[in-house]
Amino acid sequence: MLERKLISTDDGSATIFIPEWNESYHSKHGAVREAIHVFIQNGLDKIPYKKISVLEIGFGTGLNSFLTFLNAVKRDIQIIYTGLEKYPVQPSEYRLLNYSKSIIDNFNVADYEVIKPDDLYQKMMDSNWGDFQEINQIFRLKKVEIDFFEFDYPESEYDLVYFDAFGARVQPELWTSELFEKIHFGMKTGGLLTTYSSKGSVRRALKELGFEVEKLAGPPGKREMINAIKK
Ligand SMILES: C[S@@+](CC[C@H](N)C(=O)[O-])C[C@H]1O[C@@H](n2cnc3c(N)ncnc32)[C@H](O)[C@@H]1O
Repeated sequence: MLERKLISTDDGSATIFIPEWNESYHSKHGAVREAIHVFIQNGLDKIPYKKISVLEIGFGTGLNSFLTFLNAVKRDIQIIYTGLEKYPVQPSEYRLLNYSKSIIDNFNVADYEVIKPDDLYQKMMDSNWGDFQEINQIFRLKKVEIDFFEFDYPESEYDLVYFDAFGARVQPELWTSELFEKIHFGMKTGGLLTTYSSKGSVRRALKELGFEVEKLAGPPGKREMINAIKK
């Protein structure tokens, strides 16, 4: 396994960095800021349902899952969340991440304090892998330790997909039709895939599979990102 180091990003939140690849789990311009922009504001916020089924490609530090949880509390909706991850982040690593604090500091979400976000983040990260765990009444989490290509994608299951793989510079095989086709199969018609990349080859691959692709303004440090809707 590759060496992983904790680093701080521009909004004060931490991320993990892989020196050998010169690649981090989130943007150095702000891990929490990027996650909110790409996955919450241009993902979860666009799905109007009271019960939403989410698939995350690359569970990593659990930041997207935690932000989804907090937003579900705010909207009083239910989340069924599946996160795929081949190289789980270890307790010695996630105990040092400061997401609850940085979210509260940067995003004026003091109202979340009543639900003790610190405890909930740790509860999500400590929860068992392999089947659904009830984090609380509104959030069910299934973390699956598996390669993205090996997962048995259920047909027409997901309303929302967070595609949060490492960049194509280091893992080009993950940004291809081969994987997008499996994910497409798993999505409901009208489902939304959101990702931080806006590469032309990625947009073309998604269009060829029948997605309607939209380019949007990216998070700080990135000009554009993509939303893709399954037609
Ligand atoms: C950009 S990071 C994910 C960041 C994560 N969403 C977060 O908020 O921390 C990409 C993740 O994909 C995982 N990964 C890389 N290749 C994989 C593969 N072939 N199958 C499953 N997981 C993989 C990595 O271990 C890493 O956790």
